[in-house]
Amino acid sequence: MTAGLTQMLETEFTNGNLEVLYSETQIGERIRELGLQITREYAGKDLVLVGVLKGSCVFLADLMRAIDLPLTIDFMSVSSYKDGTKSTGDVEILKDLSNSIRDKHVIIAEDIVDTGLTLTRLVEILGSRGAASIKIATFLDKPEPRIKKELVVDYTGFVIPNKFVVGYGLDAAGRYRNLPFIAVVKDPAAV
Ligand code: IMP
Ligand code: MG
Repeated sequence: MTAGLTQMLETEFTNGNLEVLYSETQIGERIRELGLQITREYAGKDLVLVGVLKGSCVFLADLMRAIDLPLTIDFMSVSSYKDGTKSTGDVEILKDLSNSIRDKHVIIAEDIVDTGLTLTRLVEILGSRGAASIKIATFLDKPEPRIKKELVVDYTGFVIPNKFVVGYGLDAAGRYRNLPFIAVVKDPAAV
């Protein structure tokens, strides 16, 4: 096959710059386990899942269907990464919650914890609003670059190495969120 034809047949799902880290099946199994655990631990509690847009949308959609309890969902949008792969350190609220979390048991759903700056700031902000409890569920935990070492992550899908990953809601410059698997970007400069 000529290089040109190979390139033409390459899709978002088979891009040669991506290497699958966790398959759709592995992800599905892990989400079911997390859902069972949360179901056991939140029975009888007024539960709100707060998705951090945009990255957590796929995780939240799957996780909420794996939780066999009455619950509500809400969303926040914050920006900490401006179209790049480096943390800027500042967290800006682009969209706040639609409803009060007073007296509710909140689980913040995040796509990935990296430096921990985003979630630390979010927990500070939501912590002042009278919630009964606030916990963190992250699909991925990348502990190596952590700046906020004291951040407690309560539920974790997978712990991953210090690589830039995409898929299952995570993006590189806005793309690849629709990949049903998690992949390492081999050359981040090439995306
Ligand atoms: P933190 O504030 O450094 O913990 O950054 C968390 C945010 O950075 C996540 O919600 C993602 O949006 C983004 N991020 C961190 N690592 C990656 C990655 O490997 N791929 C895609 N986005 C990432
Ligand atoms: Mg994010």
